[in-house]
Amino acid sequence: MELPFAESWKIKMIEPIRKSTRSEREKWIKEANYNVFQLKAEQVYIDLLTDSGTGAMSDRQWAGIMLGDESYAGATSFLKMKDMITKITGFDYVLPTHQGRAAENVLFSCLIKAGDFIPGNSHFDTTKGHIESRKAFAIDCTIDEAKDTQLEVPFKGNVDPKKLEICLAEHHDKIPFVIVTITNNTAGGQPVSMENLREVRKIANKYKKPVLFDSARFAENAYFIKIREKGYQNKSIKEICKEMFTYADGMTMSAKKDALVNMGGFIATRSQEWYDCAKVFGIVYEGYITYGGMSGRDMNALAIGLDENTEFDMLETRIKQVEYLAQRLDEFGIPYQRPAGGHAIFVDAPKVLTYVPKEEFPAQTLTVELYLEAGIRGVEIGYLLADRDPVTRENRFGGLDLLRLAIPRRVYTNNHMDVIAVALKNVFDRRETITRGVKIAWEAEIMRHFTVKLQRL
Ligand SMILES: Cc1ncc(COP(=O)(O)O)c(C=O)c1O
Repeated sequence: MELPFAESWKIKMIEPIRKSTRSEREKWIKEANYNVFQLKAEQVYIDLLTDSGTGAMSDRQWAGIMLGDESYAGATSFLKMKDMITKITGFDYVLPTHQGRAAENVLFSCLIKAGDFIPGNSHFDTTKGHIESRKAFAIDCTIDEAKDTQLEVPFKGNVDPKKLEICLAEHHDKIPFVIVTITNNTAGGQPVSMENLREVRKIANKYKKPVLFDSARFAENAYFIKIREKGYQNKSIKEICKEMFTYADGMTMSAKKDALVNMGGFIATRSQEWYDCAKVFGIVYEGYITYGGMSGRDMNALAIGLDENTEFDMLETRIKQVEYLAQRLDEFGIPYQRPAGGHAIFVDAPKVLTYVPKEEFPAQTLTVELYLEAGIRGVEIGYLLADRDPVTRENRFGGLDLLRLAIPRRVYTNNHMDVIAVALKNVFDRRETITRGVKIAWEAEIMRHFTVKLQRL
């Protein structure tokens, strides 16, 4: 008999978690204004708010923490991190930042001015925030298939080359760069194929535009290329990563995802011009160029995490767990963005809560219901997160409205996945009784979903 699949690691340290009662949760979520970001973590049983900075570090990473060099300038920890980044990406210039959005802030301060257009594939909310706060426009060129959650497409995160070309032809004098997010978080943790990256590069070259990768989950993207794209089965993850980055001029990185650390980020590039400019803003916003918001010990852990997570076994363990949860949801007929993404399952909320109108935010309503059901905290990636149109100030209802269940790396077991699946099934079974959603009582001008106050209708 063939042996079943199992994790490529064993557990050395644990952290207790606590269940609660429904009446406790009713009180807590009301106090949190029906916004799960405002819950206390101790009020949560299984926390799927994000896979960002919530992973478990390895024994090697913890050993690296002890060996951190905390020198202000030229720390060996920085040099180890820089060498690892250069080895994996081929980019020679590396600037640390405290997290991904800080890398965006520093680099975009150099590259974006008011009135610019930035084409890409479903810009992540902080990326969009850093574009729009500079009075520039994020142009979404994701393939249309990504909007149909039930369509099984292997690289649903891809850029539509036609949309990109139209945007470049129309606005080329106002486009500082093209951005590709790997994997495409907003479209459901969906990968971008190597063929697509190559094509984007070709189109960008035609218009003499640089290409930037938002690389938070580049290793997961490489895993999908190995598994799904012809010609890559026999290549190692590190070889695939190296090729991916040949199609970019630089990257911003939230190291809290695929570098397996709890905090950290960086910019890496082959462009001396970008680096020279980013250094200046990096010093202003983040700190000196060899630490930029990170401590030496964290840079050590980041270097080791990057090395570990660009190995096949680590990625296979992770992505198979997400697939396991997807299989359980399939058993119950719960609709989610298909196929399962790399870091999360994205439940198609309007297909579940068919009676809740879009103006009452179905995905946010489902997020609240799942919390009430079992103390599981997912997050809305939908109409609230989409913010208002910067010009018309209307809500943007054009995209998907999803409940994201992000799976932290190396944290939960498949027993937890079973609890999540059954809790969601219980909500799914009583979906026809849920007819009203939530309304906004207070919201921030941009990135409102973090702090929005809601009322239950
Ligand atoms: C695709 C993508 N880009 C950028 C970011 C921003 O990174 P950070 O949270 O480290 O600021 C995230 C974080 O969730 C992300 O998923």
